[in-house]
Amino acid sequence: MNDDAPLLGAVIGSPVSHSLSPVIHEAAFAAAHRQGRYVAVECPADDVGRTVAELRERGVVGISVTMPLKEVVIEHLDSLSDDAHVLRAVNCISFRDGRAVGHNTDGDGCCDALARIAASPILGETAVVLGAGGAGRSVALALLRRGADVVVVNRTLARATELVSSLGPHVESSRGTIRVGGADDVTAASILVNTTSVGMNSDETPLPVSLLHPGLTVLDAVYTPMQTALLRAARSVGAAVVDGLWMLIDQACRQQVLWFGGVPDREAMRTAAERELASRQK
Ligand code: ATR
Repeated sequence: MNDDAPLLGAVIGSPVSHSLSPVIHEAAFAAAHRQGRYVAVECPADDVGRTVAELRERGVVGISVTMPLKEVVIEHLDSLSDDAHVLRAVNCISFRDGRAVGHNTDGDGCCDALARIAASPILGETAVVLGAGGAGRSVALALLRRGADVVVVNRTLARATELVSSLGPHVESSRGTIRVGGADDVTAASILVNTTSVGMNSDETPLPVSLLHPGLTVLDAVYTPMQTALLRAARSVGAAVVDGLWMLIDQACRQQVLWFGGVPDREAMRTAAERELASRQK
């Protein structure tokens, strides 16, 4: 990318140098013939206010927010989307009418990937979410809002209970239900989403593979490796599978839509991300 091109976007976090966001968003810019750069900005938590203000002054259209800033950034914003408000976590900032608005596109990205890649229905389906961290919360809320009956399964039970009780009050406005469960709940589910880090650069699976069945759509948010042991086992029993790179691409697509309006070129974004991951393996 031309260094003279205007700065359109940035991802802030720490550490941030390994973020795929610059490659993914710049691929979307290029496919849309949009002249502009998107950079990674290393930002410790105590510097987030100054960094957001500085990027805003430089005229960026939006900012992606990654660990460990998703919560601390909130106090520096003018308003929050409904999802970001419920989750108390922001992964995307848009600047609209002079206001900095915080959004959370992680859960919607997961649901978009389930629907697009596996044509998975969500309304009325039972969905097991493995993990109760930031990603688990976001995915559980998005599934809940789309009318799924969500079962949260986590190694630390107290964290799953906390997740369910914090999202539970929002059930009224949706059609789904949410409760804490165990790995056995997978046998009666049609959707399984792994949001834990289990399987990242390892051959571990986050639950016994004997619980997998052909009636499942399995999305693994882990994308290093792209074909995790969980996805390989799921495919071998005839389940539909969606890799975590699609979730990453789809949450970035949602950010592009918030910033520019038009639907970005997913395939171009995916191709660029795959190329980058492959080059890192060399
Ligand atoms: P994120 O924001 O990406 O969701 P996180 O908040 O650190 O990250 O949450 C990580 C999730 O992975 C948690 O649900 C964690 O379980 P605990 O709440 O019990 O810590 C889960 N996790 C991480 N390593 C795990 C492991 N070896 N086995 C099972 N669950 C694990």
